[in-house]
Amino acid sequence: MLRGNEIKKPEGKLGVLLVGLGAVSTTFLAGVEAIKKRIAKPIGSLTQMGRIRLGKRTEKRNPLIKDFVPLAKLEDMEFLTWDIFEHNAYQSALNAGVLEKNHLESVKEELEKIKPQKAVFIKGYVKKLDGKNVKQGKNKMELAEVLMQDILNFKREKNIDRFVMIWIASTEAYLEESTVHSNLKNFEEGLKNNSNDISPSMIYAYAALKMGIPFANGAPNLTVEIPALRELAQLNKVPIAGKDLKTGQTMMKTVLAPAIKARLLGLSGWFSTNILGNRDGEVLDDPENFKTKETSKLSVLDQILQVDNYPELYGNFYYKVIINYYPPRQDNKESWDNIDIFGWMAYPMQIKVNFLCRDSILAAPIVLDLVLFLDLAQRAQMSGVQEWLSFYFKSPMTAPKLYPENDLFIQLAKLKNTLRYMMKEDLITHLGLDYYEKL
Ligand SMILES: NC(=O)c1ccc[n+]([C@@H]2O[C@H](COP(=O)([O-])OP(=O)(O)OC[C@H]3O[C@@H](n4cnc5c(N)ncnc54)[C@H](O)[C@@H]3O)[C@@H](O)[C@H]2O)c1
Repeated sequence: MLRGNEIKKPEGKLGVLLVGLGAVSTTFLAGVEAIKKRIAKPIGSLTQMGRIRLGKRTEKRNPLIKDFVPLAKLEDMEFLTWDIFEHNAYQSALNAGVLEKNHLESVKEELEKIKPQKAVFIKGYVKKLDGKNVKQGKNKMELAEVLMQDILNFKREKNIDRFVMIWIASTEAYLEESTVHSNLKNFEEGLKNNSNDISPSMIYAYAALKMGIPFANGAPNLTVEIPALRELAQLNKVPIAGKDLKTGQTMMKTVLAPAIKARLLGLSGWFSTNILGNRDGEVLDDPENFKTKETSKLSVLDQILQVDNYPELYGNFYYKVIINYYPPRQDNKESWDNIDIFGWMAYPMQIKVNFLCRDSILAAPIVLDLVLFLDLAQRAQMSGVQEWLSFYFKSPMTAPKLYPENDLFIQLAKLKNTLRYMMKEDLITHLGLDYYEKL
């Protein structure tokens, strides 16, 4: 890993490769263009608005993160996208219905120029969607090669220096790890033999990693965490991160569960339900695709509560997660959590959370941060799983045999300490005794 001045400067253009041009992607793109025109602020983005404390509290050093670490500028970003529908980013943003028409009008010209490439798509992985903008190839290896050619054409056309790819397409059907995923050799054979267990998202990830391009998975499907793709990331020294952006209900869960645990309150049940009416909701209405999301959402509580260490408090709680497709709400998800807890002498209490969020409004700044931090990681020669980016994910990737850290504030502390380490600043331990004792 390179640190401080050794980190390569973010010179030249950064090619942002977005797989999927739906609600999240178009909200991200419209926001970036509006921020560049200074008609919107990058609210929710740690890289743009966040500060980082350096040194002792008495030093009062709190620079903006973007002034502290060498990040690419929004003005240096160029976008390439893929989708199974031919709509350009403007039309797709209108269809998604997240942003108001008057906001979209002000960036219409820029968005209309972003037209999706033909996608690598296999109907079995997303049964609810049908699109014509799809690549043909004799096998999955050939499809990966066509994706790489798309990227090379874009590189030449726009004179791109570096890239980052993010999967922000529909959630694919549930898939378990199998032999074809176990190492790179099997995986490449599987690509040539059209193995059913290789999903489109894996083909995109393979294309990116093969070209040395960092890859993040914004959805819950099995993709870059398989051993074969980890192996490729290590081999080509590429950073990878995933999976499933942590936005609404799960973000709240990873704030509340640590509080319950910190006070050693018990938990007898956690019921989570939500209504959601966008295309993502429609795709998740299929049980195979919902299973992928459910698995991602279910894992966080067990880890945060350390069930094995606290059997009297958390050994027996009932946990239920439901997602309901309800078109009238479009992207404006509403979630309800009923949390049954118990305290001193086992007296029961309840917490109710009703979050009226906007899914893509929460997700767009995360996409921006991931793109910028993965590019930074690449220039700092950090490769493989970037656990310090767990902050952004529902199911953070870790080294094998390591449990993930899901507590939002531990994740933030880890991220900020990584940035301090990168820039050769002291790590913050929160010990603070030296303010009181002359050490
Ligand atoms: N919005 C959030 O808060 C949030 C949080 C976590 C994860 N996610 C995940 O992000 C993803 C995108 O969410 P969204 O709301 O933008 O969904 P969306 O349905 O609006 O957009 C997804 C797009 O991906 C396209 N697509 C599907 N398969 C493709 C393929 N193989 N290649 C290229 N394009 C393909 C679809 O045509 C669609 O346009 C979903 O998987 C969702 O679960 C979203």
